[in-house]
Amino acid sequence: MVKINSACPHGAVSAAALGAGRISPLVAAQGGKGTVTRNPLKIPLAAFPSPGTYVLAAAPATVDLGGGKTSSVLAYNGYFPGPTFRANTGNSASVQLINGLAQETTVHWHGMVVPPLADGHPRNAVAPSGNYLYEFRIAQRACLNWYHPHPHMLTGEQVCLGLAGAFIVNDNEEAALGLPSGAYEVPLIVRDATIDRTGNLNYKPKTTGFFGQIPLVNGTRDPKLVVDSAVYRFRVLNGANARLFKFALSNGRQFTVVGNDGGLLATPAQLGQIEIGPGERLDLLVDFRGLSNGTKVMLQDLNAGWNLLEFNVTRQVSDGRIMPTTLSSISALSGPVTPTRIFSFDGMSKINGKSYDLNRIDFRVPFGQTERWRFITNGNAPHPVHVHGASFQVQSRSGGRGVVFPWERGWKDTVLLQDGESVEVLIRFDGYKGLYLLHCHQLEHEDMGMMSNFEVI
Ligand code: C2O
Ligand code: CU
Repeated sequence: MVKINSACPHGAVSAAALGAGRISPLVAAQGGKGTVTRNPLKIPLAAFPSPGTYVLAAAPATVDLGGGKTSSVLAYNGYFPGPTFRANTGNSASVQLINGLAQETTVHWHGMVVPPLADGHPRNAVAPSGNYLYEFRIAQRACLNWYHPHPHMLTGEQVCLGLAGAFIVNDNEEAALGLPSGAYEVPLIVRDATIDRTGNLNYKPKTTGFFGQIPLVNGTRDPKLVVDSAVYRFRVLNGANARLFKFALSNGRQFTVVGNDGGLLATPAQLGQIEIGPGERLDLLVDFRGLSNGTKVMLQDLNAGWNLLEFNVTRQVSDGRIMPTTLSSISALSGPVTPTRIFSFDGMSKINGKSYDLNRIDFRVPFGQTERWRFITNGNAPHPVHVHGASFQVQSRSGGRGVVFPWERGWKDTVLLQDGESVEVLIRFDGYKGLYLLHCHQLEHEDMGMMSNFEVI
């Protein structure tokens, strides 16, 4: 029926060693003596959604965040993060959610274009002890998507306490590129968390959103990953409730960005710093060639001054990879014929002046027609704007940062809106008709009502 394999032999790294990289301010403040005990990065288990029905149970669990102490979290099948689904374009997924929580929940397949009844809409909430069958065919191109709860006003809490996992779609176009794979392809779910005195994950958001005290990568505190002198592919998700991460490497090397939310870019981009908001993804190549054994490179977050993940070069291999220069041909959406729709993200809880109403449909969109949508805000950004049911192409950003960044080209489903910015996208719903959501992916904003129902007709 359903196979669950260990995704990556690199899970078997040696015992924790003392890291010698830059120390995060938090650890230093807690009395670290210039060294941090680094824990092996957890690699989420891989699950294959077909053939057969995969059972996904959401329930409280205890997990080791690193260092051997157990923490209470909410988890899918006991794993934090949840199992990584991997499927090919053309596969079908059949996933049975069992709700072992004390609250209602749903599963939303963020980035997947699925029928409305499989989209995890809060109207289709599953009561405690209930279950729900999500069935969909994967028709889209290769990309890193993810899944998480989407119940009415409870999304922030359930995600923060641990419910989220990756969903990787592969296709032939991507396979033909021969990007690093196996142990050289590593998902990185980056988020923040607060751990209470008893060592458990804790959700106490402020009105400005949940900002945790420490970073976690794949549910690991102070993680390290032993690497070869080779090129790696990191599939990065900002899985935080509210925090933006500005990624950089401590040795000054650049990332080669090959993809984002919606899959491969047309051409790669070399960048030293990349900032993304909650819900956004990156597909990054990192080149460790030419680094001798014992070299440590830190993946940093320049916003918080955090050391997110230490790479430790421990083995010399010969990797003659030539970095790709072209990746994909992306055809531009064209021919908008409707007037531009304007969505104003107001305060911390409204879109176009209205708070979310589960039963109200705010607008209707014709199936198969390209539309131009403009996202604006009158404050309280960042607002990572996310649309269900289709990906979009970012056309322009004016005000604020004023540019479309290289990682925002191609296809996206979440785009960061900062104060003073106006972002225009082209979007076309050609998957399914029915009910979908537009919302801010700052999860506290979402839960407070910065969300809108629309219907594709
Ligand atoms: Cu990742 Cu509507 O959410
Ligand atoms: Cu917002």
